[in-house]
Amino acid sequence: MTRTQLENTVTEHFYDRFNHAPQALVLAPGRVNLIGEYTDLNNGFVLPVAIDRYLAMAVKKRTDSRVVIHSVDFDETVRLDLDRLEKNNHSFQEYISGCLWALGQKGFSVKGFDGVIAGNIPIGAGLSSSAALELATLRAAAYSGGFAFDATKMAGIARFAENHWVGVSCGIMDQLMSAAGKKGHALLIDCSTLELTACPVPDGVSVIILDTDTRRGLVDSAYNERREQCLCAAEIMGVSSLRQADEAMLAGSKNRMDDLLYNRARHVILENARVLSTARAMRRGDAATMGRLMKESHDSLDHLFEVTSPALNDIVACSVQQSACLGARMTGAGFGGCAVALVKKGLEDDFIRDVTACYGEKTGLTPGIYICNPSDGVTLKDLK
Ligand code: GLA
Repeated sequence: MTRTQLENTVTEHFYDRFNHAPQALVLAPGRVNLIGEYTDLNNGFVLPVAIDRYLAMAVKKRTDSRVVIHSVDFDETVRLDLDRLEKNNHSFQEYISGCLWALGQKGFSVKGFDGVIAGNIPIGAGLSSSAALELATLRAAAYSGGFAFDATKMAGIARFAENHWVGVSCGIMDQLMSAAGKKGHALLIDCSTLELTACPVPDGVSVIILDTDTRRGLVDSAYNERREQCLCAAEIMGVSSLRQADEAMLAGSKNRMDDLLYNRARHVILENARVLSTARAMRRGDAATMGRLMKESHDSLDHLFEVTSPALNDIVACSVQQSACLGARMTGAGFGGCAVALVKKGLEDDFIRDVTACYGEKTGLTPGIYICNPSDGVTLKDLK
């Protein structure tokens, strides 16, 4: 579904469900991370782009304290009472109720609204479909409640909901990207200060998303385990997070930690440096350096941080052997899901054809490969 089709779908379903036209249309993008993996939860640097795949929500204010949201994709309606929000372990509903709960916890006055949602971000693929749902919910809540939508503040609320309601100890990257993305750009995010610096995607290259068509269920527990290992390594080095550590400190602490912790910390320390080098390369339009750093990042995630999978390694190997490809790596939490590649403009079709054939031969799977146009963060169109 294209963006316009998504907007039409939620508008039409809104008429059918609520016998009324919506008052506003919200569009929240997913994200793909160019480089900087498992660095956000260590207060480090990341460099994601918001993608032109969205969660769309048609919205109308209500006069009571109820929130009623119908999902076209799941053909299911969520009915919530803002005065009595409860967890019910129902996956997509938890992102909505968690955000509404988090707003209340942070002192925002939330009012009721009706909504219809539909999306074209593949679910569970590591492209942050859940962060998009969170930011769409928060944008709609700001509209109905009449409070200002501050992108950084709202991303923090969505993360609070993930950490304390949904129960995933994620960092801020996905939520902040869906909130604050900038068309044609990646955002260098300093996850310690939340400072954002827009870095243009160089002319002459396309960002391509490669979905391995594999998913891994236990990604949350593996994610939380990696987080614990990073905290533990930081503690041994006597710093509050790995952001404060450098290679010399790590070398000095090597005999006080086992190889596993050493490798985890080494990945994070070197990955932070790679993000900063990539951002500098982007500013001078140096796509070749970007690509090289992306390859190094993948190798580090494979050997030191151990969050890739055979499918991710296969699709990255198939990508980097194409002459049109400057670099490729897994993206997001890993263990399955998507990779991202930097490909010379004009050669995208050949790249897609050859990687599809190569990956199909290695795995028997058909990858989902698409060109991504870096997009703006969440928007609201007032239809009144
Ligand atoms: C997931 C989390 C992010 C980030 C990445 C790994 O997408 O939600 O906060 O930690 O994994 O870089």
